[in-house]
Amino acid sequence: MGRQFFVGGNFKMNGSVDTIKGIVNHLNQAKVDPNVEVVIAPPALYLLLTREHLRPGLEVAAQNVFDKPNGAFTGEISATQLKESNITWTLTGHSERRVILKETDDFVASKTKTALDNGLGVILCIGETLEQREANKTIEVVTNQLRAVAKQVQDWSKVVIAYEPVWAIGTGKVATTEQAQEVHAAIREYLTKEVSQTASDNTRIIYGGSVSEKNCNELAKEKDIDGFLVGGASLKPAFVDIINAQS
Ligand code: G3P
Repeated sequence: MGRQFFVGGNFKMNGSVDTIKGIVNHLNQAKVDPNVEVVIAPPALYLLLTREHLRPGLEVAAQNVFDKPNGAFTGEISATQLKESNITWTLTGHSERRVILKETDDFVASKTKTALDNGLGVILCIGETLEQREANKTIEVVTNQLRAVAKQVQDWSKVVIAYEPVWAIGTGKVATTEQAQEVHAAIREYLTKEVSQTASDNTRIIYGGSVSEKNCNELAKEKDIDGFLVGGASLKPAFVDIINAQS
């Protein structure tokens, strides 16, 4: 059986009660390819509202989670709290958190492990900066990010890897299909060599970084691109075209 196409919408710190209800209503009524797994990630404040209004079959993700079960961690949300609230996925390792909030590979790995241990699916974001790409370090960077996770996580069946080159995020500068495919293939090869053939065959590797309704069809044709993590365009009606990129 092939890998199910996966499209995530990362709203980042955008939206209001009204606009999020609008996006949810639009998705509820849209003709969405039933073979695609769709997950949207609103800001934490709107997770419950989104879950309450979004139709069954479409899932909700947190943008972040903490790596401790509960306790004195002001401002954080635990995996158990998410799970109990029917928030079935979380992002970890988004570059905005790695870069702005200085999250390390090990911390991202620890959050990933905690989320998985508590039954959540994880959209694990990895990717290189422009400087690292220009220094030919792309594969080394993404491999190190994955290796930190592989040290703590054995079962990858609930992990979706989102390859998001930092230079392509929010810039309108999408990676070419060749650039994206090349890194996705390297990630799959890493999984074969250092995790398992099963993980390599079954783990969805999705692309993120200026994905739009205009470039999604070409990207979706690549053999190792199993979907998208969409930022800006997930707030717009065209998100539905991206979900349906394969149909
Ligand atoms: O997580 C999605 C993301 O970082 C890509 O953002 O706005 O370039 O689609 P955007």
